[in-house]
Amino acid sequence: MVTKKQEGNKLALLRLVAAAAAVVVVFAGSSGTAAAQAAGLKKGFYKKSCPKAEDIARRVVWNRVAGNPELAAKFLRMFFHDCFVRGCDASVLLDSASGTAEKNAAPNLSLGGFEVIEEVKAAVERECPGVVSCADVLALAARDSVSYQYGAALWEVETGRRDGTVSSDQEALADIPAPSSAFPVLLANFSAKGLALQDLVVLSGGHTIGIGHCNLFSSRLFNFTGKNNPSDVDPSLNPSYARFLQGQCRRNRNDNSTVVAMDPGSSLSFDSHYFVNLRARQGMFTSDAALLTDGRAAALVDKLQDPDVFLDHFKNSIKRMGQIGVLTGGSGQIRKRCSAVNS
Ligand code: HEM
Ligand SMILES: *[C@@H]1O[C@H](CO)[C@@H](O)[C@H](O)[C@H]1NC(C)=O
Ligand SMILES: *[C@@H]1O[C@H](CO)[C@@H](O)[C@H](O)[C@H]1NC(C)=O
Ligand SMILES: *[C@@H]1O[C@H](CO)[C@@H](O)[C@H](O)[C@H]1NC(C)=O
Ligand SMILES: *[C@@H]1O[C@H](CO)[C@@H](O)[C@H](O)[C@H]1NC(C)=O
Repeated sequence: MVTKKQEGNKLALLRLVAAAAAVVVVFAGSSGTAAAQAAGLKKGFYKKSCPKAEDIARRVVWNRVAGNPELAAKFLRMFFHDCFVRGCDASVLLDSASGTAEKNAAPNLSLGGFEVIEEVKAAVERECPGVVSCADVLALAARDSVSYQYGAALWEVETGRRDGTVSSDQEALADIPAPSSAFPVLLANFSAKGLALQDLVVLSGGHTIGIGHCNLFSSRLFNFTGKNNPSDVDPSLNPSYARFLQGQCRRNRNDNSTVVAMDPGSSLSFDSHYFVNLRARQGMFTSDAALLTDGRAAALVDKLQDPDVFLDHFKNSIKRMGQIGVLTGGSGQIRKRCSAVNS
């Protein structure tokens, strides 16, 4: 039985939560990115203007992922790169025109699947011309490709983004965090986008699917301190994992043609193994290992090994990532093709 006093306590608690939420909004707003501009996003933005849009997107994506499961990792990473450079505005999809575009910048190594995004966009355009943005197509493709093996959406995607008109390789270089980064650098890079420490740790769990190129982590394996012998490896690596990686990669630091699964054994499965591996010091990049060097982050790594906890947190963090610097309302445009601005 709920007494009046308990009801009162409950109300007080709710008010406290609401006040805390308000503080969070003000804080995120003052950092200039996510929350303030995300006002125009909502679930089912196309419900009236293009009711079939999300079904069409899912159908095309699932079709392609069925034959090419690696696409899920491509789209998840592409969405991250899009959002971190100029906000989630599909700038990552533009081809180079007058200048060099983001997709041609150095951190692009494994960006791929552009043609499938264009195929989804074309299918949606046939249904409702000029209504659904490329930025939303990418947000949906990231969710639907990762969700394919579950047969149901793993997270909710807000829509209503509009497309930008600028894409620059220099901005990609300036905004995409480097895999050699230490914890304070990563934290600064995420907070510059209005994301918190928890988002950094949770979203790094994206590395539970996909691959990495050897040259991006070989400095940890060969000649780490200049002694140049087989045991001269990064001491933050699990020794047997280091030997495994040494066996995969060519013995020089420039091997950009060999790839290794980031979560060997389940690199296609969107699970919480990333955090289990990480705890066992089997994170591929310096930026992964860095999450164990901060007490708060390491405590989260422990919690996120539970698959339900991971998915629960991932839903929230990717929603926040999807709000970074979005164009809504009358800003930007709805591109006709994702690779070029409208003429
Ligand atoms: C914390 C900062 C991050 C750094 C430094 C980082 C770095 C990298 C690097 C270097 C690769 C390998 C690329 C290659 O060799 O082809 C990679 C792959 C990947 N990243 Fe991240 N990443 C970060 C955050 C994220 C986030 C937030 C997500 C999405 C939620 C993400 C999703 C992925 C995925 C899915 C792949 C695999 C791509 C593929 O298989 O083609 N990463 N990341
Ligand atoms: C990635 O960038 C390089 C130049 O750094 C470029 O040659 C290559 O075509 C780019 N890849 C994609 C998919 O655009
Ligand atoms: C990341 O943060 C560091 C430290 O503030 C800064 O020097 C660096 O330019 C940032 N890099 C990116 C890619 O945002
Ligand atoms: C190993 O590292 C040292 C110090 O950075 C460097 O002088 C040497 O050339 C490196 N050796 C190889 C084989 O890369
Ligand atoms: C890989 O390395 C070779 C040799 O250093 C270079 O010519 C090539 O452009 C690199 N490829 C990529 C995709 O970076």
